[in-house]
Amino acid sequence: MQFPKIIQGGMGVGVSNWSLANAVSRLGQLGVVSGTALDSLFVRRLADGDPGGDMRRGLDAFPFPEMAKRIWDEFYIPGGKAAGVPYPLMPMHQRRELRKVVELCIVSNFVEVYLAREGHKNSVGINFLEKVQMPHLPSIYGAMLAGVGCVLMGAGIPLHIPGVLDALAGLRPAEYRLAVTGAAQDADTAMKFDPADYVEGPLPVLERPRFFAIVSSNTLATTMLRRASGRVDGLVIEGPTAGGHNAPPRGKLLLNAAGEPVYGERDQVDLAGLRELGVPFWLAGGYGNAKSVRYALDQGAAGVQVGTAFAFTRESGMRPDLKQSLIAQATTGTGEVFTDPLASPTGFPFKVALLQGSYSDPEVATARTRVCDLGYLREPYAIEDGEIGYRCAAEPVANYVAKGGKVEETVGRKCLCNALMANIGHQQTRRGDLMEEPALVTVGDDLNTIAQFLAPGRTSYGAADVIASLLSLTTDAVAADSSEMVYATA
Ligand SMILES: Cc1cc2nc3c(=O)[nH]c(=O)nc-3n(C[C@H](O)[C@H](O)[C@H](O)COP(=O)(O)O)c2cc1C
Repeated sequence: MQFPKIIQGGMGVGVSNWSLANAVSRLGQLGVVSGTALDSLFVRRLADGDPGGDMRRGLDAFPFPEMAKRIWDEFYIPGGKAAGVPYPLMPMHQRRELRKVVELCIVSNFVEVYLAREGHKNSVGINFLEKVQMPHLPSIYGAMLAGVGCVLMGAGIPLHIPGVLDALAGLRPAEYRLAVTGAAQDADTAMKFDPADYVEGPLPVLERPRFFAIVSSNTLATTMLRRASGRVDGLVIEGPTAGGHNAPPRGKLLLNAAGEPVYGERDQVDLAGLRELGVPFWLAGGYGNAKSVRYALDQGAAGVQVGTAFAFTRESGMRPDLKQSLIAQATTGTGEVFTDPLASPTGFPFKVALLQGSYSDPEVATARTRVCDLGYLREPYAIEDGEIGYRCAAEPVANYVAKGGKVEETVGRKCLCNALMANIGHQQTRRGDLMEEPALVTVGDDLNTIAQFLAPGRTSYGAADVIASLLSLTTDAVAADSSEMVYATA
């Protein structure tokens, strides 16, 4: 069995888009699209007039044309929406979804994976955050319809995803238990999805994608392998220097003088222990350089997962002005990264690049009026008579408190849903005196090292530059097309 040495990490929302994943997979490594909030992103791409016609091309390949037509007819705006007009919003996700929300998840995930697979035969992965549970089932189904080769999931403990993959590949309905704060142990909080309710014609035959769990410790790795509802094919072991959300330190939360979580010995992974588990593993968090790749391979890893280096490639979805500012900082070694213990409503530490004028700037954060209109990070909570309510610690404080949330939980929280849309140029415009949504860029601690990928005199680089550089101390130093990759699904 041959595995990719490099997994290009999933980067939501839309940073690891289809064009980045396509470029990486074409080069024989594992390109991974982010599946997070793809439904809302799809609506915004259509509202922008689908420049380039890529979404249309994906829809034309979608196996259920009536569903594709419903979505196109509702959201496509020829020539794009007028400047200053807000993007249309979908109803927020909930346990029992509206049919059109489910359809949008199926279609948008299909299109992203379809486009990432276009023109080559190598495997493509999709990444989801376990904590963003409500869109899981139809999103995974859409990705499987497009032949996704691997599902990767972290930010939570995705014990029940392997069983979901088995059910969907077996053409059976799938279930996923929604975590509901305050619900009784035996409360029925299952979300259900039966593909038969959505397909047009017979159920398409689907392959079961591989499943890689993203975890931060030996304990979680072992738990995944012992208790998951189906086969776990690999593990990504992500340390606290990685971009995006980080696992909190083990034990009591201590902050350093700058206010960042302090990680210690207990947060180190035991590589010998990992090797003993007998499944392939990839190391992540600060592995975006040739020496670290060599080290990981020498330690028995199948390879590395890298995010930050790929986030700034020409192919990624990050807004060009943000890319340029941060590449310029990296070039002079002045990029600064802050591990914010409060920003994310999930409660996990979230790494942000300090960038003036962005949401990391305290003035911008204070000036933003709290609005919650995307709602991916809303926490389901039990209300009387078995009903479920939804709240987010970054929503308007009075609303959160009225829903039983604690006021201290709201301090320092940032609206990641809107910020991450802004990072990729789909920021919501608001009417009246409300400001346009600000960006909040997440990067790993080794932001400044991305300057290594710039050829002399250049201010940008591509996915191929990153791959060639990372593999330069390995046996496949030439980033050859490894079409013999055994787990390619095409
Ligand atoms: C911009 C950005 C967004 C990210 N978003 C996600 C995500 O949505 N899901 C996820 O599992 N990991 C996410 N990550 C983590 C990456 O997949 C990867 O594991 C990590 O970046 C590796 O560490 P590095 O940044 O030091 O290379 C993100 C990282 C970055 C830089």
